[in-house]
Amino acid sequence: MSEVILAFLCNWCSYAGADLAGVSRFQYPPSIRVLRTMCSGRVDPLFIVEGLRSGFDAVFVYGCHIGDCHYLEGNFHTSGRVETVRKLLEFSGIGADRVQLRWVSAAEGQEFARSVSELTEAVHGLGPLDRDRFGLHLSALSQTFESSRLRWLLGMERRLTEIGNVYDEKIDKRKYEEMLGAAAIEEYQKALILESLLQGPQSVREIAAACGLPVYTISQRLADVEKAGKAAFQGFEGNTPKFIRSGA
Ligand code: FES
Repeated sequence: MSEVILAFLCNWCSYAGADLAGVSRFQYPPSIRVLRTMCSGRVDPLFIVEGLRSGFDAVFVYGCHIGDCHYLEGNFHTSGRVETVRKLLEFSGIGADRVQLRWVSAAEGQEFARSVSELTEAVHGLGPLDRDRFGLHLSALSQTFESSRLRWLLGMERRLTEIGNVYDEKIDKRKYEEMLGAAAIEEYQKALILESLLQGPQSVREIAAACGLPVYTISQRLADVEKAGKAAFQGFEGNTPKFIRSGA
């Protein structure tokens, strides 16, 4: 198979599990390129998107089982982050299945080999990632995960749903997930517009066509990025208003 996969392995569990798979001679496909991290919680969503942008067809993240993280909550955060990356990949049309998260302990060499084989086969079914088609979307995803609004929300899950704010107020998990999902999509749509405007002045319809989003959605998000000083009305071309990127 021609697909190449980036795999982040937590040092304390999956990396040792991969080692055990090796010494036990459990076979798995040679298509993964391993990056060892001290905790799956160290895998920033930006690392995953950069992996896809830089030539990998899929990214796997392996961590300790929930409750076994050596840094207590690292894998709890990994779970929310990877789920958000997957949701946006699905929304963008790239497909959620290009990013996978699994828990494998140091004692599970056979499970590591089985899991890599199964996931690799699934990626083979998807084929190589078409970076020409999805270049704009991947750049927008990078920008999305740099957004302070999204990063704040991703880091505050426990605080918002279990611990509470300074007034002891909490929100339930479902409400948090709705809030996070809506924020992620809004930030992604804004990032798509800004990436599209890098090509030069464009009308709302031209931006909508480049982003693959409805004109109404582009109008709403364009107003947001204008308010933030990141885009501006440039003038009319005939009767059509054109917009440019500004303040970047
Ligand atoms: Fe393995 Fe945190 S130490 S996931």
